[in-house]
Amino acid sequence: MEKIVIANQKGGVGKSTTAINLSAGLAYANHRVLLIDLDPQGHASMGLGIRTDETQTVSEFLCESNCKAEDVIQKTYIPGLDIMPSDVSLAVAEHKLSQTHAKEFILRKKLESIDYDFVIIDSPPTFGTLVSNAFLCSEHIVMPVQLGFLGLASVYNFLETVEEINKHVGSIINHKANILGVLFTFFKTRTKMSKKILESVSDIFSDKIFKSKIPENVKLNEAQELGKSIFDHDSSCPGALAYQSLVNEVLERIDQSPKNIERKKNKKRLADSRVKK
Ligand SMILES: Nc1ncnc2c1ncn2[C@@H]1O[C@H](COP(=O)(O)OP(=O)(O)OP(=O)(O)O)[C@@H](O)[C@H]1O
Ligand SMILES: [Mg+2]
Repeated sequence: MEKIVIANQKGGVGKSTTAINLSAGLAYANHRVLLIDLDPQGHASMGLGIRTDETQTVSEFLCESNCKAEDVIQKTYIPGLDIMPSDVSLAVAEHKLSQTHAKEFILRKKLESIDYDFVIIDSPPTFGTLVSNAFLCSEHIVMPVQLGFLGLASVYNFLETVEEINKHVGSIINHKANILGVLFTFFKTRTKMSKKILESVSDIFSDKIFKSKIPENVKLNEAQELGKSIFDHDSSCPGALAYQSLVNEVLERIDQSPKNIERKKNKKRLADSRVKK
């Protein structure tokens, strides 16, 4: 099971849009996917047409010890894609959680019993207990970045945050969240400023930058308002093609991650030793 958190402390950079469409794209590629909406704004839930008026949400899952994953998980209209939804009650839950013992490890602990190919976590544009919980259970971070000078400042703050969490809390359980990739969103290549900032960010991240870039495309906004993935709203629009390319790139990068290279080596060793016997 691969867990990916979509994170950036800066608001409105395309985190929820990426969480929805990456999850949908992975499910359409025949993977079993759980999308966890870890933002009290509930945008990932709404963006897939999920209602939470009469159901339990991730708030109960985090705060009530007898609430299990299956009590909260709902199916979406996309085959293979389930969701643990959220709503505004998560803001109160986060406050409660912050007074709990070992508050950063709750999500990790409670997810031990689930079984999916991918868990995608949408995170809020703040930095607090919810984001720490997401980082401490995910091995991969996808960071959407909207190019602009303010966007660049957020990149530096974000890297410091990741470093701090890995060092101070992750090291307790020998866990490290690594940047799987930096994703440019609302992308426009033509402006001079975009080019300049792109060069600066490329210097910091080099090969971490996804080749796929998400263009500014109103269809992405329309899809979210209709409660659909972009693949179901307009599968040939530039936004859909870009997110499809991201899905493929994420699959390739995960396949090449140190953990999976090691796993493949072990499998090969086992197979070789069987042949020798
Ligand atoms: N590439 C894009 N082109 C056009 N509109 C987009 C694009 N990506 C996202 N949007 C729209 O921009 C708004 C902000 O996007 P989104 O909600 O994904 O950002 P976010 O980082 O999750 O925000 P927050 O920090 O508030 O959680 C939404 O209305 C969304 O539909
Ligand atoms: Mg969001």
